[in-house]
This record gives sequence, C-alpha cells and structure tokens, in this order.
Amino acid sequence: MKKRVYIKTFGCQMNENDSEKVLILLKEDYIPTDDPEEADLIIVNTCSVREKPQHKVYSEVGRYKPLKKKKNHLLIGIMGCVAQQEGENLIKKLPYVDFVLGTQSFYQIKEVIKQLQKDPKPIVLTELTKEFKPPLLLPEETLPKTTEKVTAFVTIMQGCDNFCSYCIVPYVRGRETSRPPEEIIEEIKRMVELGVREVTLLGQNVNSYGLKEKGYPDFPELLNQISAIEGLWRIRFTTSHPKDLSERMIRIMAENPKICHHIHLPLQAGSNRILKRMNRKYTKEEYLEKVAKLKELIPDIAITTDIIVGFPGETEKDFEETLEMLKTVRYHEIFSFKYSDRPFTTAKNFEDKIPEEEKERRLKLVQELQKTITQEIYQQYVGKEMEVLVEGFSSKSKTQLMGRTTTNVIVNFSSPRLDLKGRLVKILIEEAGKHSLKGTYLKTLK
Ligand code: 5AD
Ligand code: SF4
Repeated sequence: MKKRVYIKTFGCQMNENDSEKVLILLKEDYIPTDDPEEADLIIVNTCSVREKPQHKVYSEVGRYKPLKKKKNHLLIGIMGCVAQQEGENLIKKLPYVDFVLGTQSFYQIKEVIKQLQKDPKPIVLTELTKEFKPPLLLPEETLPKTTEKVTAFVTIMQGCDNFCSYCIVPYVRGRETSRPPEEIIEEIKRMVELGVREVTLLGQNVNSYGLKEKGYPDFPELLNQISAIEGLWRIRFTTSHPKDLSERMIRIMAENPKICHHIHLPLQAGSNRILKRMNRKYTKEEYLEKVAKLKELIPDIAITTDIIVGFPGETEKDFEETLEMLKTVRYHEIFSFKYSDRPFTTAKNFEDKIPEEEKERRLKLVQELQKTITQEIYQQYVGKEMEVLVEGFSSKSKTQLMGRTTTNVIVNFSSPRLDLKGRLVKILIEEAGKHSLKGTYLKTLK
C-alpha cells in the first residue's frame, strides 16, 4: 500500500510549484493527503523573503512534533528558502526534523528518504550551484491536484542576479538559470492534455529569460512559441522587473491574443532616492514611461505591484512619492509590506532604520489609498460583459462558479449550468466586491 505525504506550502507561487514537483517525484511511493494526522511524511515548504513568514516556520514544524510520538516511522522534512538559508541550524533548533533540503536539493528527495529508512540520521543538503538544471518532471494524471486544474504554473527560470539591496532571494535561490525551451513546451503540452487551459510562467525575473544561455529564445520569442500550443487559451507570467520590460515585449503582449492583459510590475518605492538605495536600476520617470506605453498599446491592461514602506532612510517626502505613484498608475491591486531586515542583504547594514510604529502607519496609509483605487477600478467593470475562464466553484458557495477575467480579476457568478469548469464564458458583471466581481452567466464561448 502507498504511504501518505502531507505538504504545507508557504510563500510564493514558485514554492507552490516546487511542492507539486515533490509530489511528482514521490508518486511511486506516496499519495498526497490533506490531513497531517494520517501522513507518513510531512514536508514544510518555507519562505524567507520577509521576517514574518520566516517566523511561521518554527511554529508550523513544531505542530507536528507530537505526531512523531504517535507514529514511529513518521518523517518530517523542511524545504524551501528557510531550509536553504538555515541548513544545519534548523536541525539544531528542531532536532526531531529528519531532513532539510535547499531550493536546488529537493529534487533528491527520493534518495534522501531511502537513505533515512536505512539510517535515521538527519540529512541536510543545501548546495547551490550556477550550473544547476532542474530535471524535467511532467505532470502526472494520477495526482488529483494536477488533473483537476484549469490553470497551472510553469517555472521557466529560477534564481535572480539583481541583488536589490533588501532582498534575500539571490542568496537563497542562487543565480538566474533558464530552463530549456523544449522542456517548457513539453511540460505545457502535457498540461494541456490533462485539461489545463491557462498557464502562468514563473520566474523571479521572467523578462531576462534565456539571455544567459546560448541558443535559447528570449522571453518574447518564448511567449510566441508557447502561444502556438493548440488547446492552450491563455498565458500569464510573473514577475517582470521594470528595468527589463521592453517596448517589444509590450507590443507582443498587445498583439498576441493568448497573452492576458495583466502585468505584475513591482514598483517597491516612488522616490528616486529610495529606488537608488534599493538598487532597483530604474527611476520613477522610466517606470511611468513603461506604464504609459502599456496603457497606450493595451488600453484595458491591469497593472499590479509590490510596495515596501519604511525602507531605511525613507523620509515622509519619499513616502509621499510612493502614494503619488499609486494615484498616477492606478493599480488594480497592490501587495504592500513593511521593510524588514533580511540576512546577507546590504540594506540590513544601512543606518537610519524606520521605527516599527512609523512603518505601520505608512503601511496603513498605502493600503487605505489603494482600497479606494481598487474599488473605483472594480466599479468600472459593472455593466460590462467580460470573458471569464471558469476555474471551478466559488470559494464561498457550491451554487456559484468562479473564474478570472483576462485582467486577472476574480469573478463569482451564478449560472443555470454548473458544469462549466474549463470553459470560457461571457459574464455580465453586476456588482463589485473588495477583491472580486459578481455577475451572471450569458453564454459559453469555448
Ligand atoms: N522587506 C519587506 N519586503 C520585502 N520584499 C522583499 N524583501 C523584502 C524585505 N526585506 C517584498 C518585495 C518583493 C516581494 C516579493 O516581497 O516587495 O517584491
Ligand atoms: Fe529580489 Fe530584486 Fe531579484 Fe526581485 S529582482 S527577486 S526583489 S533581488
């Protein structure tokens, strides 16, 4: 009989994607479960991008300690960015943990488990190399998570070479490496065979895809190749670094009907002085030029962003420039964070840190302003007919369906038919919620 594996995933979509890869790697011996109590193997996939998610790791792993007493053979492992960052330290602090696998080492999970079954000594693998290439793992029909999906993530590149001064990613994910285009295409074709209609291409910096590798297409060319896949209807990607977003790329977004009209374009801060200290390599004027081009060529484009408040040395005036940028760009949604010190980063050693209460105050102001903007933007959808790709039931009710517009806005809708998962439908938008829209079904398009 197969054993059970429970994976708890924190952090970004890249981590979600890595957790799915683990399930594929373990498929011969383990089936996934949603209940840690019945698991024979528990894995916590961790995030260290900010202080808060990192703290969660210890309490999360701690919750499973009592289960070890009940089940002798239970294995507990930690993977992801905290695993990469802390390595052996995690075993020192949490001695009942059996393995710690870094962001490139988790591909060895099968061998690690075999070894632990022979000899229960904890295993820590955290090597990071420039030459690293992940193996090709095709989605499996035997895994429920894979076959039930209409939308899927595909990692096209890993790591980051940018070294923004606040960011730990280059240290825990290593240097940028792009996956071979043939493998990406093969993986997506397989997904489409399993019913996927929309893919989100993942990378810390997708716009620099293929630039370091000889003979690889660049990102716009990769998008063209992917869009030739029959049966794939929609393509999204994240994250775009503003400095690498070219006009050619914007044109391809505008012209290729499969590419969705949404871009996540992290601004981080609105003041040129702070952007410089963040090592972001663009000015606010350059950022606004790209936004203007996006809006000119793709009038219905939805732009979302990440904002950090209270970066070391951020004055009230600097902060107000961030607020100004929100008013000028008018983002659909923002993800906003209080600056926190991260290990290895240069900003950690900057003086003039901003007090916690002040960061809190600025965060609230940013979020309040954005709330109004999001509401105004969502209100503009009311009365419009929108194309929506149906992902399944709405999270709140089994009598309503849920899908997304090309602009990545969630739409919950009622419909005389509930068997529309995976179909492209037309919806009349009737109401705007805080982070979603409501509507009714008009017709099925595909
Ligand atoms: N403090 C606060 N926010 C951070 N981010 C990254 N590093 C930090 C940090 N040290 C935010 C950035 C990034 C998002 C994923 O997390 O906004 O885009
Ligand atoms: Fe971090 Fe900057 Fe790289 Fe994004 S581009 S992962 S913020 S270093």
